[in-house]
Amino acid sequence: MNQRQLFLQHVAQTSSTPIALEIERAEGARLWDAQGNEYIDLIAGISVCNVGHRHPKVIRAIKKQLDHYLHVMVYGEMIETPQVQYAKLISSHLPAHLNAVYFTNSGAEAVEGAMKLAKRVTGRAQMISFNKSYHGSTQGALSIMGDEYWRNAFRPLLPGILHLDYDSFESLNEITSQTACVIAEPIQAERGVYTPSNEWMKALRRKCDETGTLLILDEIQTGFGRTGTMWAFEQFAIVPDIIVLGKALGGGMPLGAFIADRKLMGMLAENPVLGHITTFGGHPVCCAAGMASMKVLLKEKLVQQVHAKEFFFRELLRHPEIQSFRSRGLLIAVEFASEEVTKRIVQMALQGQDRILTDWFLFAPHCMRIAPPLSITQKEIKKACQVILSCLKN
Ligand SMILES: Cc1ncc(COP(=O)(O)O)c(C=O)c1O
Repeated sequence: MNQRQLFLQHVAQTSSTPIALEIERAEGARLWDAQGNEYIDLIAGISVCNVGHRHPKVIRAIKKQLDHYLHVMVYGEMIETPQVQYAKLISSHLPAHLNAVYFTNSGAEAVEGAMKLAKRVTGRAQMISFNKSYHGSTQGALSIMGDEYWRNAFRPLLPGILHLDYDSFESLNEITSQTACVIAEPIQAERGVYTPSNEWMKALRRKCDETGTLLILDEIQTGFGRTGTMWAFEQFAIVPDIIVLGKALGGGMPLGAFIADRKLMGMLAENPVLGHITTFGGHPVCCAAGMASMKVLLKEKLVQQVHAKEFFFRELLRHPEIQSFRSRGLLIAVEFASEEVTKRIVQMALQGQDRILTDWFLFAPHCMRIAPPLSITQKEIKKACQVILSCLKN
Protein backbone atom coordinates (compact mmCIF):
# COMPACT_ATOMS: atom_id res chain seq x y z
CA MET A 1 0.00 0.00 0.00
CA ASN A 2 1.22 3.50 -0.73
CA GLN A 3 1.28 6.29 1.86
CA ARG A 4 -2.10 7.62 0.79
CA GLN A 5 -3.74 4.22 1.17
CA LEU A 6 -2.07 3.72 4.56
CA PHE A 7 -3.26 7.20 5.62
CA LEU A 8 -6.84 6.33 4.74
CA GLN A 9 -6.59 2.87 6.30
CA HIS A 10 -4.80 3.54 9.58
CA VAL A 11 -4.96 7.22 10.44
CA ALA A 12 -8.34 8.12 11.96
CA GLN A 13 -10.17 10.49 9.64
CA THR A 14 -12.14 13.58 10.55
CA SER A 15 -14.04 13.84 7.28
CA SER A 16 -14.51 11.91 4.07
CA THR A 17 -12.68 14.63 2.15
CA PRO A 18 -9.27 15.26 3.73
CA ILE A 19 -6.93 17.53 1.73
CA ALA A 20 -4.51 14.57 1.73
CA LEU A 21 -1.43 16.29 0.35
CA GLU A 22 1.66 14.24 1.15
CA ILE A 23 3.90 16.98 2.52
CA GLU A 24 7.62 16.38 2.37
CA ARG A 25 9.04 19.74 3.40
CA ALA A 26 7.94 23.16 4.56
CA GLU A 27 9.78 26.45 4.82
CA GLY A 28 8.60 30.03 5.21
CA ALA A 29 5.29 30.30 3.36
CA ARG A 30 6.02 27.32 1.07
CA LEU A 31 5.18 23.63 1.19
CA TRP A 32 6.45 20.85 -1.08
CA ASP A 33 4.68 17.54 -1.64
CA ALA A 34 6.17 14.11 -2.30
CA GLN A 35 5.85 14.65 -6.06
CA GLY A 36 7.95 17.82 -5.83
CA ASN A 37 5.06 20.26 -6.33
CA GLU A 38 5.40 23.58 -4.56
CA TYR A 39 2.50 25.31 -2.79
CA ILE A 40 2.17 28.78 -1.32
CA ASP A 41 0.61 28.23 2.07
CA LEU A 42 -2.28 30.63 2.60
CA ILE A 43 -3.53 29.05 5.83
CA ALA A 44 -0.40 28.52 7.98
CA GLY A 45 -1.66 25.29 9.54
CA ILE A 46 -4.80 27.29 10.52
CA SER A 47 -3.17 30.38 11.98
CA VAL A 48 -0.29 28.51 13.60
CA CYS A 49 2.89 29.26 11.65
CA ASN A 50 2.82 33.05 12.04
CA VAL A 51 6.61 33.36 11.58
CA GLY A 52 6.59 30.86 8.71
CA HIS A 53 7.39 27.17 8.67
CA ARG A 54 10.67 26.09 10.24
CA HIS A 55 12.09 29.50 10.97
CA PRO A 56 15.85 28.90 11.54
CA LYS A 57 15.73 30.52 15.00
CA VAL A 58 12.83 28.31 16.05
CA ILE A 59 14.64 25.21 14.79
CA ARG A 60 17.81 26.27 16.64
CA ALA A 61 15.89 26.77 19.90
CA ILE A 62 14.29 23.32 19.57
CA LYS A 63 17.66 21.65 18.92
CA LYS A 64 19.24 23.46 21.84
CA GLN A 65 16.51 22.31 24.22
CA LEU A 66 16.84 18.71 22.97
CA ASP A 67 20.39 18.70 24.34
CA HIS A 68 19.20 19.71 27.82
CA TYR A 69 16.03 17.79 28.63
CA LEU A 70 12.67 16.67 27.23
CA HIS A 71 9.89 15.80 29.67
CA VAL A 72 11.15 15.65 33.24
CA MET A 73 8.07 15.97 35.47
CA VAL A 74 4.36 16.79 35.33
CA TYR A 75 3.38 20.43 34.84
CA GLY A 76 4.01 22.84 37.68
CA GLU A 77 6.47 20.88 39.82
CA MET A 78 9.87 21.79 38.41
CA ILE A 79 11.53 25.06 37.51
CA GLU A 80 11.91 24.59 33.75
CA THR A 81 13.75 27.50 32.15
CA PRO A 82 11.89 27.53 28.78
CA GLN A 83 8.54 27.68 30.63
CA VAL A 84 9.65 30.34 33.09
CA GLN A 85 11.25 32.56 30.47
CA TYR A 86 8.39 32.23 28.01
CA ALA A 87 5.78 32.99 30.70
CA LYS A 88 7.78 36.12 31.59
CA LEU A 89 8.02 37.22 27.95
CA ILE A 90 4.30 36.74 27.26
CA SER A 91 3.30 38.53 30.47
CA SER A 92 5.50 41.48 29.59
CA HIS A 93 3.37 41.96 26.45
CA LEU A 94 0.03 41.78 28.30
CA PRO A 95 -1.72 44.11 30.76
CA ALA A 96 -0.22 43.93 34.27
CA HIS A 97 -3.03 41.76 35.73
CA LEU A 98 -2.46 39.00 33.15
CA ASN A 99 0.66 37.80 34.89
CA ALA A 100 0.21 34.08 35.64
CA VAL A 101 0.49 31.71 32.68
CA TYR A 102 -0.90 28.19 32.89
CA PHE A 103 0.54 26.21 29.97
CA THR A 104 -1.45 23.38 28.38
CA ASN A 105 -1.01 21.14 25.32
CA SER A 106 -3.71 22.62 23.10
CA GLY A 107 -6.17 25.43 22.66
CA ALA A 108 -9.19 23.40 23.74
CA GLU A 109 -7.43 22.30 26.88
CA ALA A 110 -6.65 25.92 27.72
CA VAL A 111 -10.33 26.78 27.21
CA GLU A 112 -11.26 23.96 29.63
CA GLY A 113 -8.83 25.35 32.20
CA ALA A 114 -10.18 28.88 31.83
CA MET A 115 -13.77 27.65 32.27
CA LYS A 116 -12.81 25.76 35.43
CA LEU A 117 -10.94 28.77 36.78
CA ALA A 118 -13.99 31.01 36.25
CA LYS A 119 -16.18 28.56 38.20
CA ARG A 120 -13.66 28.27 40.99
CA VAL A 121 -13.10 32.02 41.32
CA THR A 122 -16.75 33.11 41.19
CA GLY A 123 -18.41 30.10 42.82
CA ARG A 124 -20.99 30.32 40.03
CA ALA A 125 -21.94 27.70 37.45
CA GLN A 126 -23.55 29.52 34.53
CA MET A 127 -21.37 30.20 31.53
CA ILE A 128 -22.17 32.28 28.48
CA SER A 129 -20.79 31.98 24.97
CA PHE A 130 -21.90 33.19 21.56
CA ASN A 131 -23.53 31.75 18.48
CA LYS A 132 -21.03 31.04 15.66
CA SER A 133 -18.11 30.84 18.05
CA TYR A 134 -15.57 28.03 18.04
CA HIS A 135 -13.55 27.20 21.14
CA GLY A 136 -12.40 23.61 20.57
CA SER A 137 -13.64 20.07 20.38
CA THR A 138 -13.36 18.65 23.91
CA GLN A 139 -16.59 18.30 25.89
CA GLY A 140 -16.44 21.60 27.77
CA ALA A 141 -15.28 23.54 24.74
CA LEU A 142 -17.90 21.79 22.61
CA SER A 143 -20.58 22.75 25.15
CA ILE A 144 -19.84 26.43 24.55
CA MET A 145 -19.53 26.05 20.78
CA GLY A 146 -21.95 28.32 18.99
CA ASP A 147 -23.63 25.92 16.59
CA GLU A 148 -26.21 23.24 17.36
CA TYR A 149 -25.30 21.08 14.35
CA TRP A 150 -21.90 20.24 15.83
CA ARG A 151 -23.10 20.01 19.44
CA ASN A 152 -26.20 17.92 19.03
CA ALA A 153 -24.76 14.44 18.45
CA PHE A 154 -22.68 14.61 21.61
CA ARG A 155 -25.30 15.46 24.21
CA PRO A 156 -25.53 15.49 27.16
CA LEU A 157 -22.97 18.28 27.34
CA LEU A 158 -22.23 20.70 30.19
CA PRO A 159 -25.38 22.12 31.81
CA GLY A 160 -25.84 25.83 32.52
CA ILE A 161 -24.53 27.17 29.23
CA LEU A 162 -26.28 30.07 27.48
CA HIS A 163 -25.53 30.74 23.81
CA LEU A 164 -26.27 34.32 22.92
CA ASP A 165 -26.14 36.38 19.75
CA TYR A 166 -22.76 38.02 19.24
CA ASP A 167 -22.58 41.77 18.73
CA SER A 168 -26.14 42.14 20.06
CA PHE A 169 -26.76 44.65 22.86
CA GLU A 170 -29.94 42.83 23.81
CA SER A 171 -27.96 39.66 24.53
CA LEU A 172 -26.01 41.43 27.23
CA ASN A 173 -29.13 41.57 29.45
CA GLU A 174 -28.70 37.82 30.00
CA ILE A 175 -25.43 38.36 31.87
CA THR A 176 -26.31 38.45 35.58
CA SER A 177 -24.82 37.90 39.02
CA GLN A 178 -25.36 34.17 38.38
CA THR A 179 -22.91 34.18 35.46
CA ALA A 180 -19.43 32.84 36.15
CA CYS A 181 -17.95 33.90 32.85
CA VAL A 182 -18.58 35.10 29.36
CA ILE A 183 -16.25 33.60 26.80
CA ALA A 184 -15.87 35.28 23.44
CA GLU A 185 -13.56 35.55 20.50
CA PRO A 186 -12.62 39.20 19.91
CA ILE A 187 -13.20 38.51 16.22
CA GLN A 188 -15.26 35.47 15.24
CA ALA A 189 -12.92 33.65 12.90
CA GLU A 190 -14.95 30.60 11.89
CA ARG A 191 -17.99 32.73 11.14
CA GLY A 192 -15.92 34.00 8.20
CA VAL A 193 -14.07 36.81 10.01
CA TYR A 194 -16.79 38.76 11.80
CA THR A 195 -15.69 41.85 13.75
CA PRO A 196 -18.09 43.20 16.40
CA SER A 197 -18.51 46.92 17.01
CA ASN A 198 -16.21 48.66 19.48
CA GLU A 199 -19.27 49.85 21.40
CA TRP A 200 -20.53 46.31 21.86
CA MET A 201 -17.18 45.05 23.11
CA LYS A 202 -17.04 47.90 25.60
CA ALA A 203 -20.63 47.24 26.72
CA LEU A 204 -19.76 43.55 27.17
CA ARG A 205 -16.81 44.49 29.37
CA ARG A 206 -18.99 46.90 31.37
CA LYS A 207 -21.74 44.33 31.91
CA CYS A 208 -19.20 41.79 33.16
CA ASP A 209 -17.82 44.38 35.60
CA GLU A 210 -21.30 45.25 36.87
CA THR A 211 -22.23 41.61 37.51
CA GLY A 212 -18.89 40.33 38.80
CA THR A 213 -18.62 38.05 35.77
CA LEU A 214 -15.21 37.12 34.39
CA LEU A 215 -14.60 38.00 30.75
CA ILE A 216 -12.58 35.33 28.97
CA LEU A 217 -11.25 36.26 25.55
CA ASP A 218 -10.27 33.40 23.27
CA GLU A 219 -7.32 34.70 21.26
CA ILE A 220 -6.26 31.25 20.12
CA GLN A 221 -6.73 32.18 16.48
CA THR A 222 -6.38 35.98 16.69
CA GLY A 223 -3.30 36.21 18.93
CA PHE A 224 0.34 36.78 18.02
CA GLY A 225 -0.23 39.52 15.48
CA ARG A 226 -2.69 37.75 13.23
CA THR A 227 -5.11 40.69 13.17
CA GLY A 228 -2.52 43.49 13.05
CA THR A 229 -1.85 43.99 16.76
CA MET A 230 -0.20 41.48 19.08
CA TRP A 231 -3.62 40.75 20.62
CA ALA A 232 -6.92 41.54 18.92
CA PHE A 233 -8.43 42.92 22.17
CA GLU A 234 -6.09 45.92 21.89
CA GLN A 235 -8.20 47.15 18.96
CA PHE A 236 -11.27 47.46 21.18
CA ALA A 237 -9.58 49.23 24.09
CA ILE A 238 -10.79 46.63 26.59
CA VAL A 239 -8.93 43.99 28.58
CA PRO A 240 -10.10 40.50 29.51
CA ASP A 241 -9.88 38.91 32.96
CA ILE A 242 -8.57 35.71 31.39
CA ILE A 243 -6.98 35.34 27.97
CA VAL A 244 -6.71 31.99 26.22
CA LEU A 245 -3.92 31.31 23.73
CA GLY A 246 -2.88 28.46 21.46
CA LYS A 247 -1.93 27.87 17.82
CA ALA A 248 0.91 30.38 17.11
CA LEU A 249 1.84 30.29 20.81
CA GLY A 250 3.96 27.17 20.20
CA GLY A 251 5.79 28.34 17.07
CA GLY A 252 4.72 25.16 15.25
CA MET A 253 4.78 22.91 18.33
CA PRO A 254 1.69 21.97 20.40
CA LEU A 255 1.10 24.50 23.17
CA GLY A 256 -1.84 26.31 24.73
CA ALA A 257 -2.21 28.64 27.71
CA PHE A 258 -4.76 30.42 29.86
CA ILE A 259 -3.52 33.52 31.58
CA ALA A 260 -4.99 35.45 34.51
CA ASP A 261 -3.94 37.36 37.60
CA ARG A 262 -1.82 35.38 40.04
CA LYS A 263 -4.45 35.92 42.76
CA LEU A 264 -7.14 34.24 40.65
CA MET A 265 -4.86 31.53 39.32
CA GLY A 266 -3.76 30.69 42.87
CA MET A 267 -7.24 29.31 43.52
CA LEU A 268 -6.42 26.29 41.35
CA ALA A 269 -3.76 25.38 43.90
CA GLU A 270 -6.07 25.04 46.92
CA ASN A 271 -9.44 23.51 47.86
CA PRO A 272 -8.75 21.24 46.12
CA VAL A 273 -5.02 21.30 45.69
CA LEU A 274 -4.07 20.32 42.10
CA GLY A 275 -7.31 21.87 40.82
CA HIS A 276 -6.09 21.59 37.25
CA ILE A 277 -3.23 19.32 36.28
CA THR A 278 -1.58 18.05 33.13
CA THR A 279 1.36 15.75 32.49
CA PHE A 280 2.77 17.37 29.38
CA GLY A 281 1.36 20.93 29.50
CA GLY A 282 4.10 23.47 28.81
CA HIS A 283 6.49 20.89 27.41
CA PRO A 284 10.00 22.39 27.50
CA VAL A 285 10.64 21.86 23.78
CA CYS A 286 7.30 23.49 22.89
CA CYS A 287 7.99 26.44 25.20
CA ALA A 288 11.50 26.86 23.73
CA ALA A 289 10.01 26.85 20.21
CA GLY A 290 7.20 29.22 21.17
CA MET A 291 9.51 31.70 22.84
CA ALA A 292 11.87 31.71 19.83
CA SER A 293 8.88 32.26 17.55
CA MET A 294 7.55 35.18 19.61
CA LYS A 295 11.02 36.75 19.63
CA VAL A 296 11.16 36.46 15.81
CA LEU A 297 7.72 38.07 15.57
CA LEU A 298 9.00 41.00 17.62
CA LYS A 299 12.49 41.29 16.09
CA GLU A 300 11.38 41.06 12.46
CA LYS A 301 8.50 43.46 13.17
CA LEU A 302 6.10 41.10 11.42
CA VAL A 303 3.03 42.46 13.21
CA GLN A 304 3.74 45.95 11.89
CA GLN A 305 3.68 44.58 8.32
CA VAL A 306 0.28 42.92 8.62
CA HIS A 307 -1.89 45.84 7.47
CA ALA A 308 0.18 46.49 4.32
CA LYS A 309 -0.08 42.82 3.38
CA GLU A 310 -3.82 42.75 4.11
CA PHE A 311 -4.22 45.79 1.86
CA PHE A 312 -2.23 44.10 -0.90
CA PHE A 313 -4.53 41.05 -0.82
CA ARG A 314 -7.56 43.36 -0.85
CA GLU A 315 -6.29 45.29 -3.84
CA LEU A 316 -5.39 42.21 -5.86
CA LEU A 317 -8.48 40.14 -5.14
CA ARG A 318 -11.05 42.03 -7.16
CA HIS A 319 -13.32 39.99 -9.41
CA PRO A 320 -17.06 39.78 -10.16
CA GLU A 321 -17.19 36.28 -8.61
CA ILE A 322 -15.85 37.66 -5.29
CA GLN A 323 -18.91 38.83 -3.38
CA SER A 324 -17.13 40.32 -0.40
CA PHE A 325 -13.72 40.55 1.21
CA ARG A 326 -13.84 40.60 5.02
CA SER A 327 -10.60 40.94 6.89
CA ARG A 328 -8.93 41.88 10.11
CA GLY A 329 -5.22 41.91 9.40
CA LEU A 330 -4.13 38.64 7.83
CA LEU A 331 -7.32 36.86 8.86
CA ILE A 332 -9.26 37.13 5.64
CA ALA A 333 -12.53 35.68 4.32
CA VAL A 334 -13.12 35.88 0.58
CA GLU A 335 -16.82 35.29 0.03
CA PHE A 336 -18.19 33.46 -3.03
CA ALA A 337 -21.75 32.71 -4.09
CA SER A 338 -21.89 29.27 -2.52
CA GLU A 339 -20.01 26.52 -0.72
CA GLU A 340 -19.71 24.68 -4.06
CA VAL A 341 -17.98 27.61 -5.73
CA THR A 342 -15.50 27.99 -2.85
CA LYS A 343 -14.71 24.27 -2.79
CA ARG A 344 -14.23 24.23 -6.57
CA ILE A 345 -11.72 27.08 -6.35
CA VAL A 346 -9.88 25.60 -3.35
CA GLN A 347 -9.55 22.30 -5.24
CA MET A 348 -8.47 23.91 -8.51
CA ALA A 349 -5.82 25.96 -6.71
CA LEU A 350 -4.22 22.73 -5.48
CA GLN A 351 -3.79 21.30 -8.95
CA GLY A 352 -2.46 23.83 -11.46
CA GLN A 353 1.00 24.79 -12.63
CA ASP A 354 1.33 27.23 -9.69
CA ARG A 355 -0.39 26.00 -6.54
CA ILE A 356 -1.74 27.42 -3.32
CA LEU A 357 -3.19 25.88 -0.19
CA THR A 358 -6.38 27.46 1.17
CA ASP A 359 -9.60 26.20 2.67
CA TRP A 360 -12.92 27.47 4.04
CA PHE A 361 -14.40 28.35 7.44
CA LEU A 362 -16.35 26.03 9.73
CA PHE A 363 -19.47 28.24 9.92
CA ALA A 364 -18.94 29.96 6.57
CA PRO A 365 -18.13 27.27 4.00
CA HIS A 366 -18.89 29.71 1.18
CA CYS A 367 -15.88 31.78 2.23
CA MET A 368 -12.27 31.03 1.33
CA ARG A 369 -9.81 31.29 4.21
CA ILE A 370 -6.69 33.36 3.74
CA ALA A 371 -4.52 33.38 6.86
CA PRO A 372 -0.94 32.94 5.67
CA PRO A 373 2.26 33.12 7.68
CA LEU A 374 2.68 36.80 8.61
CA SER A 375 6.11 36.51 7.01
CA ILE A 376 4.64 35.91 3.54
CA THR A 377 6.35 38.19 0.99
CA GLN A 378 4.68 40.65 -1.41
CA LYS A 379 5.90 38.47 -4.26
CA GLU A 380 4.24 35.40 -2.78
CA ILE A 381 1.02 37.33 -2.17
CA LYS A 382 1.00 38.49 -5.79
CA LYS A 383 1.58 34.99 -7.11
CA ALA A 384 -1.04 33.48 -4.78
CA CYS A 385 -3.65 36.03 -5.86
CA GLN A 386 -2.88 35.31 -9.52
CA VAL A 387 -3.56 31.63 -8.84
CA ILE A 388 -6.89 32.45 -7.16
CA LEU A 389 -7.95 34.75 -10.00
CA SER A 390 -6.96 32.14 -12.59
CA CYS A 391 -9.43 29.72 -10.90
CA LEU A 392 -12.34 32.17 -11.29
CA LYS A 393 -14.68 32.36 -14.24
CA ASN A 394 -14.11 35.30 -16.57
C1 LIG B 1 -10.84 30.43 18.37
C2 LIG B 1 -10.40 29.03 18.67
N1 LIG B 1 -10.51 28.56 19.93
C3 LIG B 1 -10.11 27.31 20.24
C4 LIG B 1 -9.59 26.45 19.29
C5 LIG B 1 -9.19 25.07 19.68
O1 LIG B 1 -7.79 24.91 19.65
P1 LIG B 1 -7.18 23.45 19.49
O2 LIG B 1 -7.53 22.96 18.14
O3 LIG B 1 -5.69 23.66 19.70
O4 LIG B 1 -7.75 22.62 20.58
C6 LIG B 1 -9.47 26.90 17.98
C7 LIG B 1 -8.96 26.01 16.92
O5 LIG B 1 -9.18 26.18 15.75
C8 LIG B 1 -9.88 28.23 17.65
O6 LIG B 1 -9.80 28.71 16.40
